[in-house]
Amino acid sequence: MTRIARLTSDDQDFVAVLADAARILQGGGTVAFPTETVYGLGADATSAEAVARIYAAKGRPAFNPLIAHVANLEAAALQGLFSTEASMLAEAFWPGPLTLVLPLATSASVCALARAGLNSVALRIPRHPIARALIETFGRPLAAPSANRSGRMSPVTAAHVFEDLNGAIDLILDGGPASVGVESTIIACLDEGPRLLRPGGLTRQDIETVLKRPLEDRVAAGSSHAAPLIAPGMMASHYAPHAQLRLDALTREPQESGLDFGGRFAPAAEVFDLSPRGDLIEAAAHLFDYLHRLDQLGKPVIAVAPIPHHGLGEAINDRLRRAAAPR
Ligand code: TXA
Ligand code: MG
Repeated sequence: MTRIARLTSDDQDFVAVLADAARILQGGGTVAFPTETVYGLGADATSAEAVARIYAAKGRPAFNPLIAHVANLEAAALQGLFSTEASMLAEAFWPGPLTLVLPLATSASVCALARAGLNSVALRIPRHPIARALIETFGRPLAAPSANRSGRMSPVTAAHVFEDLNGAIDLILDGGPASVGVESTIIACLDEGPRLLRPGGLTRQDIETVLKRPLEDRVAAGSSHAAPLIAPGMMASHYAPHAQLRLDALTREPQESGLDFGGRFAPAAEVFDLSPRGDLIEAAAHLFDYLHRLDQLGKPVIAVAPIPHHGLGEAINDRLRRAAAPR
């Protein structure tokens, strides 16, 4: 059963409860916490195993990229590259209900699974005092999607989180109802000017006032290449390996490299096993890293062993099918 810890900012146990939550996060566990928009389901954004537990708890059929929550601008600048306009938005609206999608910085520590393999990163500094205190106590970026099961509504109370995720996560920090109640506004500041990816708690008008120009929508009129570059859930077009993928391979041919699961292929330098013991959480944690490394070997075909379709297997198979799709 999942524990619930009630806390208010003048609670005398505040520091002890947060230290406990940070310990759970350091151990790779999952903690739901209030933000001013909705409750988030947090895990260590720098650990693929920890992030895999978020996807497992949510029962997501695919790996959506997650927002990395950070404590301050310095921490954000280690993860993402800020254009002038991105900096203007950050200065104006952080902490608050704004998420910026930025090119990944070379100093970034947010793991590939949290980014769903993209070379961009979604960053947010939340305003809620419990969220901020948790991130500061933990000291690392906190990956957190909304704390609901996949396909359900975003939770705005600890009770909503408990209904959806009891038994699937370690701890819920109850800080009362979320005040904004809708998710953050997401703006991509990639190679083009700012684009609205998701409307949310911060209005278009507020953003345009700061930018002093109209905010463009996700897909520019007449643009053919911009859409797949930034659309959420379209990871295949972001990171597709150069090599072809041969799925459900029962054996590996000598000219192929291999992405194994559960020790099916004979061990070799060009074979990476997602999880020799057949654990789907471990497999998810390794997926993007191993695909990158196999691609770098330069073999034209990667043989991919069958992955069971239950639990995180569904999301792993979804990602592999996208990567294998003809282009
Ligand atoms: O208010 C919120 O934003 C809440 C709180 C917990 O912060 N979080 C939230 O997360 O709504 P989630 O996972 O439910 O939605 C995050 C959205 C997804 O639609 C995802 O595709 C998009 O952010 N996203 C994350 N990283 C991205 C990236 N690199 N490029 C494009 N979209 C990205
Ligand atoms: Mg959500």
